[in-house]
Amino acid sequence: MSEKRRIVVTSALPYANGDIHLGHLVEYIQTDFWVRFQKMRGNECVYVCADDTHGTPVMIRARAEGITPEELIARSHALHLKDFTDFEVAFDNYYTTNSPENKMFSEQFFAAMEKSGAVTVRKSPQLYCEKCKMFLPDRFVKGSCPKCGAENQYGDSCDKCGSTYAAEELGSPVCTTCGATPVVKESEHLYFELEPFKDYLRAWLPEHTTSDVSNKLLEWFDEPLRGWCISRDAPYFGFEIPGRPGKFFYVWVDAPIGYRASLANWCAKNGQDINAWWPGPDAQERVPPTELYHFIGKDIIRFHCLFWPGMLHVAGVKTPNKVFVHGFLTVNGEKMSKSKGTFVNARTYLDHLPAAALRYYYACKLSGTTDDMDLNLTDFVQRVNSDLVGKITNLASRGAQMLNKPALGGTLGTLDDEGRKLVELAQSRAEAIAAHYEARRFSQVPVEVAKIADAANEYFDRRQPWLTIKTDAETTRVTLTAILNVFRILAIYLKPILPAYAEKAAALFGEKAWAWSDAAKTLEGQTIGKYEYLATRIDAKQVEAMVEAAKVKPASSGEVAHESRASKNKQKPNVVEAGSSPLKEEIAFPDFEKLDLRVGTVLSCETVPKSSKLLKFELDAGALGKRTIFSGIRGAYPDPAVLVGKEVVFVANLAPRKMSVGVSEGMILFAGEPGVSGGILSPFASAGAGTPCT
Ligand code: 2FM
Ligand code: ZN
Repeated sequence: MSEKRRIVVTSALPYANGDIHLGHLVEYIQTDFWVRFQKMRGNECVYVCADDTHGTPVMIRARAEGITPEELIARSHALHLKDFTDFEVAFDNYYTTNSPENKMFSEQFFAAMEKSGAVTVRKSPQLYCEKCKMFLPDRFVKGSCPKCGAENQYGDSCDKCGSTYAAEELGSPVCTTCGATPVVKESEHLYFELEPFKDYLRAWLPEHTTSDVSNKLLEWFDEPLRGWCISRDAPYFGFEIPGRPGKFFYVWVDAPIGYRASLANWCAKNGQDINAWWPGPDAQERVPPTELYHFIGKDIIRFHCLFWPGMLHVAGVKTPNKVFVHGFLTVNGEKMSKSKGTFVNARTYLDHLPAAALRYYYACKLSGTTDDMDLNLTDFVQRVNSDLVGKITNLASRGAQMLNKPALGGTLGTLDDEGRKLVELAQSRAEAIAAHYEARRFSQVPVEVAKIADAANEYFDRRQPWLTIKTDAETTRVTLTAILNVFRILAIYLKPILPAYAEKAAALFGEKAWAWSDAAKTLEGQTIGKYEYLATRIDAKQVEAMVEAAKVKPASSGEVAHESRASKNKQKPNVVEAGSSPLKEEIAFPDFEKLDLRVGTVLSCETVPKSSKLLKFELDAGALGKRTIFSGIRGAYPDPAVLVGKEVVFVANLAPRKMSVGVSEGMILFAGEPGVSGGILSPFASAGAGTPCT
């Protein structure tokens, strides 16, 4: 008997400051397919992941909401895990990068990197926003691409020409949060030099990823490899670097280490030794060797295929056997769009459609390459209805319901020659289908399954059991025995893709937790259970409703304090922005109607002594006179003077609230900007979530 493989699998860690959306799910769902397949094959497979919690955006967003980063990441963790669970993505451990294990490993990795001599200290120019009083991360600055001149590009890479560069190379840079022109300031930083590992990486890359990925990265090898800046200046939410006060590990340092930290946490909870799963420097050699695979999107290959193997190499920790890289998701052939309603959050999808439908459709489209994958919403409805429901599930629903009629008593008979051939045909595809799973050619699985289902449907139609049941119960039983056996085998093949579906299907046959080898069995003479619904048709109307719900109204429906647009929006008080923040509990229209929203002009805005959060506003509220309002958005507006003269929407009929600093006579509404704060409106008394300014 061959030894069980021992496999550790990861998906990229989602950022804690955003919601899970259908683009993310391309990765988690395919990783889940693969992990479930490995488990069904009897391998020891552990799937770990975590929230990626560190960095400026989390810090800024927490500030804007008036909560601590720890509170924010705890909330996201719960929401993310719920989304994943509802999409049937089954991690063995879903942890956080803000953990003691991760801190310890990060320090160990850093010590090894320093010991290797590959950490250098350099002064480097960085963009600094004088208004925001901080160095600007790449995603908080925009300007024109230094290579192709395209406008409105972020500080790390160009959407148009794909080149990567340093933020200070951008033409006409602006701080995306306050609009100021940042200055270039020197700061001392730590760099992880890759040039010493060039030969190692040159050999490593082609062995551990596909040729398109390695060739892309190897293009950089003709010149000296640039060092990677691994430190960030305070203020920063992350791990402070030992011996370097005021300097923090860049989020991308401790993020991949988070894979190992999550595994260590799983090991601790399960009485396992991490070295026996992911060997470190002191590990004994294991037979057979453990395997490690990272599933990632093509946007983060340099982190996983250059920096990360470099770090693992110097630390003496096993590098991944393979980095599996997938492409991006397009919807209806285009980039996902918030205004078109095709940028759909996991929760919005689940509010309208079943998870299994998306899992099935993604399986149909995933081929194990880096090509982008299209979710065509019309095709989605059609494939789910015609194949999953029409071809496959119908075998069970018609077969089981007929067998459960009084004439047949729910008992399977014995296969005749024709039926046995059909079942053997289904069984004969087991290893071919397994090979597709192993190679991540998931799209071939529904193709194979549909072919077998076609043969079974042809047999069903030819044998006409709905007629024979009236005259010949036993022939009908033989027919249905073949149909239900074939269905059972197909449900086993689909189990990694449709786990809840397969569990219900197994229950129909009085079975539990199918392994891959169960497809080789044939059921005869036993009584089946009651047919429970497995999958129903989906309706284009459900998709339309989802798209409608996902639509983010154009900016005119959002009152953003610094844009003086509030007066246009008097009729639209329900301010909702980017749609990537967790929704609060639904309210009824009468609750909403109670709000009396008015527009006021900011006469003055000042900081409040001894309060790190509050700003004091004097508003000219027109006919209502002047209003004093305290708002907890100081973190987002370090320079409150910028708000003077702006129009804002405020809740005018909120009961005055006595605070330690004075009485607040209302609440100003603020909304974040898409992609910056994630779009939030946080109506806690006298406060709002402001457009953050780093
Ligand atoms: O790109 C991202 O969403 C990152 N949060 C992925 C991190 S993956 C790993 F390195 F932790
Ligand atoms: Zn700024």
